[in-house]
Parts: sequence; C-alpha cells; structure tokens
Amino acid sequence: MNAITFLGNSTMIPSHCILRAFSRISPSKYIRDTAFRSYPSRFSSCNNQYRNADSDRIIKLRNVVPFCTDRQSSVTAQVVSEARSLSASTTCANDTTLDQIYTKNGLNVKPLVVERLKGHEKDEEVVNGDDKSVNRDGFEGVKSNDLEEEAWRLLRDSVVTYCDSPVGTVAAKDPTDTMPSNYDQVFIRDFVPSALAFLLKGESEIVRNFLLHTLQLQSWEKTVDCYSPGQGLMPASFKVRTLPLEEDKFEEVLDPDFGEAAIGRVAPVDSGLWWIILLRAYGKITGDYSLQERIDVQTGIKMIANLCLADGFDMFPTLLVTDGSCMIDRRMGIHGHPLEIQALFYSALRSSREMITVNDSSKNIIKTISNRLSALSFHIRENYWVDKNKINEIYRYKTEEYSMDATNKFNIYPEQVSPWLMDWVPESPDSGFLIGNLQPAHMDFRFFTLGNLWSIISSLGTPKHNQAILNLIEEKWDDLVGHMPLKICYPALESSEWHIITGSDPKNTPWSYHNGGSWPTLLWQFTLACIKMDRPELAEKAVTMAEKRLQADRWPEYYDTRDGKFIGKQSRLYQTWTIAGFLTSKQLLQNPEIASSLFWEEDLELLESCVCVLTKSGRKKCSRAAAKSQILI
Ligand code: GLC
Repeated sequence: MNAITFLGNSTMIPSHCILRAFSRISPSKYIRDTAFRSYPSRFSSCNNQYRNADSDRIIKLRNVVPFCTDRQSSVTAQVVSEARSLSASTTCANDTTLDQIYTKNGLNVKPLVVERLKGHEKDEEVVNGDDKSVNRDGFEGVKSNDLEEEAWRLLRDSVVTYCDSPVGTVAAKDPTDTMPSNYDQVFIRDFVPSALAFLLKGESEIVRNFLLHTLQLQSWEKTVDCYSPGQGLMPASFKVRTLPLEEDKFEEVLDPDFGEAAIGRVAPVDSGLWWIILLRAYGKITGDYSLQERIDVQTGIKMIANLCLADGFDMFPTLLVTDGSCMIDRRMGIHGHPLEIQALFYSALRSSREMITVNDSSKNIIKTISNRLSALSFHIRENYWVDKNKINEIYRYKTEEYSMDATNKFNIYPEQVSPWLMDWVPESPDSGFLIGNLQPAHMDFRFFTLGNLWSIISSLGTPKHNQAILNLIEEKWDDLVGHMPLKICYPALESSEWHIITGSDPKNTPWSYHNGGSWPTLLWQFTLACIKMDRPELAEKAVTMAEKRLQADRWPEYYDTRDGKFIGKQSRLYQTWTIAGFLTSKQLLQNPEIASSLFWEEDLELLESCVCVLTKSGRKKCSRAAAKSQILI
C-alpha cells in the first residue's frame, strides 16, 4: 500500500492533510535548482520583520512549484491545488503554527498547548544549565557535578531555533572550527540523545517542535529521475537558513538534506525509524499522547512504515538498503541487510504498532506491521545469531546445496569463518552476538555495537540472546570498550579489505571513525540495554570511564586506535550527541525506572503469529510453534 492508497482518492482527502502536503512537496530542490527560484519557496518558512521581534513572526505558507517532470500523481496534484487555495499567512508567535494548521480543520485532534517562555525570560530561567522552572519528575535533589553542569551548558548552547522556537541541536559546536561542513545542521539521528536528555529533565517543548517540524520536511512525492527522495523519507538533517527579503526584512526557512548534498549521496534510511522511535518516547515520558494521535502525525508514521514495507525484489523480511544508510554514513561494506537498520526497523515497527490509531482504515497496515514483526524477529534470530557452536556448525557447512532442505541456505563458504573470529568467539555458550549482515554467500561476522544494543532494547533478540550479548561485551571489554566506550564495530577492516571495501577511505582507516573507532554517543544505548537486562553495574563502569576523559578531551565525536586511547584523527570537538549521550546515560542510571518506557519486553503475541520456514518436505511450512520455539533457545 502506498501513501496514496491510505489517503484514499483525492476527493476524500481531508483538508488538514492538504496543507501539510503542500509544505512537504519536494522541499529539497528549493535552493539547488535555479529554475525554481523565481517560484516561491516550497518549505515552511517564517518571515521576520525584525530579528527577535517576538510578536511579529509570520509564517507564510507558500505556493508549490512545478516539479522537474510531470510525474506527480493526480492525487498529489489535487492535493497541491487544494493546498494553494487554502494557503494563508499565519503568525508563528507562540509556535502554534503547526497546531493551527491542524486544529483549525479539527477531526478530534486535541492540540497540545505547551507553554513557551519569551526569549529573554527563558534565559533568566536557565541558571547553570539547570532549568528551575520545570517539574523535573523525580530528578529534584540530584546534585549535578561540574561535569554535568558543563555538559548541560554545552547542550543548551547547541540548541537551534526557528521562528524563535527551539527545534533541535546542531551536530557539533566547536568555537574554533572554521569549517564545520554539515556539522552545523540538526541531524535527525544525532538529536535523539539530546531529545531524551531534555525529556528526562522535564523539558518537552524542543522535542515536540522537532517532531512536528521534521514531519513537515518529510518527502511527499517521488521523482527518482530527479534524484529526489522516496515518498515518506525523512531527511538526514536540516538547517535553519536566514534569507534576506527586501529592506531589513528576512525570512527563516528549514532546508532539509535527504542525502542529495551528503558526502557519498547516501539516503538516511534510519532517520524515519528514529523519528518514530522518538515520537513513542515523547509520549511515554511526557504522558502526552495527543501528539501521536494527530492526523498529520498518524499520516507521517504510516508514510514511513509504507516506505519500509513496500514490496521490492527482496525475499526476506529484512530491509534491503544501500551502504551508508545509517549512523555509518560512508561506504563500509554494510549494504544489503545490515543489523543496525534491522534493529531500528524492528523498534520502529513496534512503536508504530503501539501508536497507530486502530480504525477501519488502519486495520490493514497494523496487520502488515504485525506480520512483518513476527517474520523479522524469526529471521534474525534464526540466521544472524552466532556463538561458538554456531560458528563450528558454519565451519563444517556443506556448500552448493540446491534443494529445499539445504542446511546452508545462504551458501556460506566455510572459508569465510576467518581466524580472528575463531579466536575471538567466547568458549561459553552463554556469550554470543548477532552478526552484522547476511547476504547470499556472505555473512559479515563483524560485531556492530548499535545493532546489537538495539536488538536488546527492542527484544529483537530472545531474552537469552540479550543476556549473551552483554556477556560478550563484558568478556571482550578490552576490545569493545578499551579506554573509551564503545567501539562502533569490531574488528576494523585492514589492508586490502580496507582498500576494496571502503574505497581507500582516508577517514575510515583501520581503528578510526566508522572503521573500528570508539563513539561515546553509544553510551546511552548501552546504558539502556544494561538497565533493561538488570546489569546497571556494567553501564556504570563504562560511564565512569568515559567521564574521566570526555570533559578534558573537549567532548570528541570519536576516538581512534584499537583500544580507543586517542582522540580521533578528524574527530569534531564539542560533538552534541557525545554530550547528550553522556547526560542521558547519567539520567537513566539515576532513575532506572524511567528506562522501562524506552525499551520493549518480548511480545508474546508476536510469537503467536504464523511463521513460514522452508522445510525438507515442501516449499514452505508455516507454523505458530516456529516463532514460539525460539524463546526457548
Ligand atoms: C557523521 C556520522 C553520522 C552523524 C553525523 C553528524 O557523518 O557518521 O552518524 O549523524 O556525522 O554527527
């Protein structure tokens, strides 16, 4: 089902969707295509008469422009033309612009009114990074030490405003960096730990604004032949640009990057998944579920889900993606079905299943999501899990088995089991991990930290797997943590592998950056996984180690070398998700109960679903017992 199907035909499109569609169409082509410049901007913008004039902020919803082909569907065209007639100027004072659009057209949408402080009032309220005005939900009384105070000050300093409202945090803010590249943008994935730090402190406004503004940027129509993103894609990042108008007037616009400007032109598959995960977290932590119930937000969730669930040429329930489609956004040999994307996909589907309002029109998508969840966890548990015994089994595999009853279904050649793996895998059956990727004749045995941590957090792995992954991290502490938590992947690609797989990338040399570098931002996800598995002491050990160095080292993006001893060669300093990840870890450890709203337990209902496996006797055997049996392994 595509977005057009779930919207119904054009005459049925409710007016509250029309305005939204209007601002979402092809925003990314705005600045780059000069042919379009004579037309008004296609993205949300606000005109300011004077900078900082609080009450004079104006958002103009503007006319859309023609695309570079005429391939837009008639439904989209209709949406656009109706949007035109509805377009109107509205003030963005009080940041209710987005609310106004949807609440004006009603349909049981309960607007969330978040109290805003005027610019300078807010400044007065924030003393040493400690906002006294908010209810800190049980965090009162926790004495912040110097380190945390500095972290809070830096995090607040990284906040980006749009029409005087906070909408996100920049990726890095090093005052000495004169070439910030795109690190001065708000990245969707990078904002997640910032969002959690703010939410856990009782400050939800920035998160709500972020969720609604990025929703406006979501890609709405697909024009592959114009290199524009697929319908439903969320941008990797966005920047607030100030454009001069006549005289002393200017307007602010949100300029998204869907990967068209990114190094390597990589599509951010993970952005939409993170957006959904954050939306759920917002509801769970604030208790405000009205945001996720809004029609525009529901449509956004469904568009992301539809993009991920669309039929392609694939035979597996895993999501087929290109290299660099996630946190690792450069060529690192992770194209295909990388674990990180699968774990985030699973988490996003579980979140969507909880959040999509059940009604006649959503029944099908909810069913599709449930089926995919069952199939996905079955597939990953069956085929991605390795421990010593499984590796021994692969080591003795027969190959070239053409039949339904092949044991070695993916035709993995035992030679792939390289010596490092045979040496590295722990002896104990209670340790193991999910491999990085699975393709025909290829298992990527590297340990990818984010994917393994999110498998624990989302219960993509069985309870036994989840404990075993933490056992492995504990046993391999020197390799995976070393001097700075945590390695992005292990081991690094070296020599000819580095040449061929990374394309001789000088940033991804062995044990640097994405190629075995150590990323402190992974700390918060490690903390969450440890708390879930009742092993907080492991997380405490990692946080204690990190806090000895982060401040002195000026909060680096990543560390280099086999044991993470050196600040990364090209590492940015004052990297926001390093700072926010640290703060989130601290908050979670101080209040472990709140962590339960951010992870998922095993869903027994999903294990009741029918799972189909290839068997000796026939093409497929579908059984309810298949999925259920895995909980015991
Ligand atoms: C790098 C990282 C990516 C991150 C971005 C901004 O490109 O690989 O994961 O989102 O920097 O910090």
